[in-house]
Formats: sequence, structure tokens, C-alpha cells
Amino acid sequence: MPHGSDPASRKTADALESREHKSLLRFITCGSVDDGKSTLIGRLLYESKMLYEDQLVALAADSRKFGTQGGDLDFALLLDGLNAEREQGITIDVAYRFFATDTRHFIVADTPGHEQYTRNMVTGASTASVAVILVDARKGVLTQTRRHSYLASLLGIRKVALVINKLDLVGYSREVFDRIEAEYRGFSREIGFEDAVCVPVSALKGDNITALSANTSWYHGPTLMEYLDRVEIEDEVQDAPFRMPVQWVNRPNSDFRGFSGRIVGGCVRPGDRIRVLPSGKESTVTRIVTRDGDLANAAAGQSITITLGDDVDISRGDMLAAAASPAGIADQLQAMIIWMNEEEMLPGRSYLLKIGAKTVGATIATPKYKVNVNTLEHLAARTLHLNEIGVCNINLDQPIAFDPYAQNRDTGGFILIDRLTGSTIGAGLLHFALRRSQNIHWQAIDVGKDAHALLKGQKPCVVWVTGLSGAGKSTIANLVEKRLHARGRHTYLLDGDNVRHGLNKDLGFTEADRVENIRRVAEVARLMVDAGLIVLVSFISPFAAERRMARALVTPGEFCEVFVDTPLSVAEQRDPKGFYRKARRGELKNFTGIDSPYERPENPEIRIDTTVSAPEEAAAMIVAHLIAMGVLDPP
Ligand code: ADX
Repeated sequence: MPHGSDPASRKTADALESREHKSLLRFITCGSVDDGKSTLIGRLLYESKMLYEDQLVALAADSRKFGTQGGDLDFALLLDGLNAEREQGITIDVAYRFFATDTRHFIVADTPGHEQYTRNMVTGASTASVAVILVDARKGVLTQTRRHSYLASLLGIRKVALVINKLDLVGYSREVFDRIEAEYRGFSREIGFEDAVCVPVSALKGDNITALSANTSWYHGPTLMEYLDRVEIEDEVQDAPFRMPVQWVNRPNSDFRGFSGRIVGGCVRPGDRIRVLPSGKESTVTRIVTRDGDLANAAAGQSITITLGDDVDISRGDMLAAAASPAGIADQLQAMIIWMNEEEMLPGRSYLLKIGAKTVGATIATPKYKVNVNTLEHLAARTLHLNEIGVCNINLDQPIAFDPYAQNRDTGGFILIDRLTGSTIGAGLLHFALRRSQNIHWQAIDVGKDAHALLKGQKPCVVWVTGLSGAGKSTIANLVEKRLHARGRHTYLLDGDNVRHGLNKDLGFTEADRVENIRRVAEVARLMVDAGLIVLVSFISPFAAERRMARALVTPGEFCEVFVDTPLSVAEQRDPKGFYRKARRGELKNFTGIDSPYERPENPEIRIDTTVSAPEEAAAMIVAHLIAMGVLDPP
């Protein structure tokens, strides 16, 4: 998983580990504010004596003034204070807190429990080895508890401590503790936690945090701090095969060429054979260079620069991998996707997928299923909504190097990014490459686009006509085709209404169906350009993203976007098919311009204002542009 918001904690982690020979444990805390999470973290920081004197003085004063504990220290206030600091610093969704005992350093990812929790949890959990999950003893295991646990398990956490908090409020009842423990154990096994330790706690009173409490004499397990101090953390990434995504090619002068990045799996030594992915070229490591001099070996977590024995072509985003056990390469994969956007996922839309240092274009197919995180049931789904999790096939516009997420969280985890806004809209965990992609190869065909076009004596292209229903697209496209035909050109007109009678008759007018409608017609237009034709496409095509995708399918200079710009009021007044009236009466749902959006083209090659230009004039404008593009000869 790319740790977008985690560089600070990584730096601190490096610093902590190098300063003393204590091990480092990263854990995540999950639970809502009401479960006493702030109090618990505050208590851990306090007990580990990691607070500064002035923080303690302020805490004591705040506790007297605002505290809910009758003048005793109110640890929740401590976190509130830290939170206020955090809010001043832009938008960090996950707060990292640091503390230490005699044996370990700890980094706690504290994720707020509100509705954006999935995004925060993914960020926090993707680097954690242990989850501390809180429940309120009075409430027991809730839906939220199951969701948090499931997500933590999905993200690769195998160890969990269930803190059954506020035990003081149920009279330190063993029955209550036993009941919650039994229920949770059943669930935690189902979702694949290796071992769950349940600790009866009162974060407020300090029971079983650092010392076993006399109030729970029936409990013989570890205190929470003992558990955190002793829980075994296998360093799987250290034992994994060598992996290093290339962050940048370091070339200060012509004598030196190194490849810089952070090792995310295994270790490396000079003399090791490595393979560059996806190209497959191999070479031998000659030096491991760092600011503090050359190293004899380097391991996962370290940032290094590698030089190689051969002059192989490597660019940013490539992966260096152990030649004997390289990562997989694929452009079609199955993945578990966690959707984090308010707007639903649109199968077929082109998103950006970032894995390691590489960003590629990706489309996601209709989910195979989504998961009900309470019951773990698989449900049918056409899309994924905010916070939903499902398994989908994804298609990439170029191959990537990867490992299954279960083997390596870094080389198997990715994020999805919206092309327009640049924001993270999902995260994914790779399962495997689709065999389909390995078994289908591009077949070389001898008679190609140029040969087709040459025989027809023309330059092929796509004239993409977009605009509202009733704007006049079909009328104009039809006139253009007649003119081209009269000039002896080989053409084809793809019209929305017509294509929806055949190829696309299974599609309706939801956003997802429109995306698929345009994806298919764009692919058909591309094939027709390959056949040497001048293709006219007349579809509402309301979304900028799909119009951009259609453009990207053909060679630059082969695409002409025509925006038939008729104001909604005018199109509605014309209403040639009576659809606007129906839509206004509520008899036609998702009608473009009424209750379904139309995104105006920002930079079309041609904009036609039909309130000024008659259809024949519009057709003449398009023909003139085709002459300027070199598609048609001047008259
Ligand atoms: S697109 O949005 O997916 O590009 P397309 O161009 O294929 O639409 O089809 C639009 C045509 O379908 C319209 O010209 C109209 O005749 C008809 N139609 C039926 N229902 C709708 C609707 N809800 N929204 C828009 N057009 C509709």
C-alpha cells in the first residue's frame, strides 16, 4: 500500500530504530470516541512516561477545569489537546502517536471513527502489525467492531487485542467479559486473525493497562502493555524476495547512474542478480549507495541507491526484483477493492491506479460480488458505494509488476485516483493475474490501418459529436456524412439511438450504463478508424472522462470533438421526441439535463451554437475543419 500520509512516521520510525536497539511495533487502534479510545491512548502515553512536564501540568489544569473525572486526570483531554495541534496542520486523517517501554518503541495509528473511517483505517492499518480494537463492555461486539476487525484482517493484520473497556461500569463482571470474549473469538477466527487476546480494562481507572487489577482477580492474561511489549511480530517483508520500486533514476553526471527507492521486500547485496520489471532485463548489483557510504547489504525498510553492472534501460516506476523469484507481471488482475468516494464506482470509467512508484490507467469491471462485512456474506453488486468492499477484475492500460497482497503489502496494494480531481477514491489489494490476460495475445495483422486507409485513398478519423438530447447532433452528423459521401469518402455514422437498438440494447441511462455505452462505441469507432473509415459518432456522451477516453483510443490528430451547444431551454422547447415533457412530469428518470448531468466540453475542436448557426452552416464548419486537419482535400 502506498503510504501517502505516512512519511513523517516512517522517518521517526527509522530514527527510533537506529537510536536504540529496541524493536518497533506499529499498531492501530479502532473504536469510536465513545468506546474510550482517547482515554486509552492518553493512558498508554501517560503510563509510558512519554509526556513532557508541561503537557502533564496542562493536563492536570485542564482536568480540574473541564474534566469529567471530578478533578482526577482526564486522559481524553490529553488527546483533545493533541488533536487541536493536529487540526492546525492541514488534513491529516490519521494521527500517529509515539511511546516506548523498556523493550519496545510504539507507533500508534489513531484513526478517527467517523464516516470517513475506511479511508483512515486503510492508511493506518496498511503499515500496522497489530490491531487494538475497543468495545464498550456495556454494549459488547457491535457492527462497527466487526467492520473494523474485518478491514484490519483484510489489510493484512494477523494479531489483535480486543480491549473490553469500561469494565468498571459493569461492576468488573466476569460474566460480561466472558460473553463478549466468546462472541468475538468466533468472529475473529472466521476472518483469519491468528490469535485474539481479550483484555478486561478500565482505561479511565487504569485497570489492566500496566498492572493486573485487583478488581479482576479472575483474569490471568496479560495486561494491555504486557501484550504490546511481548506480542511476536514476524517480519514477513524481511524474509520475502527482494523488491524495490524505483522512485527515481539518480544521474548526477555521466559517470554515475543509480536507481533510488525504498526496499519493500527482502534484502540485497552487491553481486545479487536482479531482474527489472516489467521489461524482464537482468543485471547484477554492483554497489549499494547511501548518504552514509556504501553498504554490504540492505533490507526492507531502507532507502538506498543501487548501481548495476550493465547499462539496462530503467525508469521511474519500474521494479527491481530478485532474479530468482521475480514479481508477477500483468495488465489484467483480480483485486479486492475498498471504495472510498462519495460518488459510486463506475465500471468502465478510466481511473488512475498507483502501485509503488508507478501510475497507470485502469478500468474496473462490474464487481463479481461485494462483501457484507457484518455477516461476511457475498452479495451481488453492480457497483461499489462509499465504504463498500468488493472483488472486481481490473484492466490496466499497461502491464505492472506486482505480488499478491497476501505476500507483500507494498507490491500488492494500490490506490485508485480520480483523473480530474486527483483525489484518492479507493484502495485495492491484488489477488492474482487473470489467466485470460496471459492466454490472450495481440495478434499481428499484416493489413493494418495504413493499408486500409491507402486503399480507400483517405485519412481516417473520428468526428465525435456531443450535446444534449434534441440539441441537433444527429441532424448535423447526418448532413456531414452526406457531404463526405458526395466527395467519395468512406464513412460511417454511429448514432446513439441506433446503436442502442443493437450492440447496446442491454444498457439503460444510469451513470454506469452511460459509461459502458460510450466505452463500447469508442472501441467500435477505434476499430472503424483501423478499417480506414471516417467515423461520425453522435451520442450525448455526457461525461468528460469518457470523451477523453474515446480521444485517447486513436492517434493524436485523428479526433475532432464537436460540441453541439444548444441551451437546455432551447432543446426543451424543441423537444422533438417529447422526452423533456415526460421527464418534467417525472415519467422518464435520469434524463440528461433534467435529473442526470451533462458536463460541457472545455476545449472542443468545434463549438456550434445552434441558436446562431443553421444545420447546413454547422455541417460546413465541420467539413472546413476536416480540411484543416488534412482529412479532406481543399475544394
Ligand atoms: S448517452 O448519454 O449514453 O450518450 P445516447 O446518445 O446513447 O446517450 O442516447 C440518447 C438518446 O436516448 C436520446 O437522444 C433520447 O432519444 C434517448 N433517451 C431515452 N431516455 C433517455 C434519458 N434518460 N436520457 C437521455 N436520453 C434518453
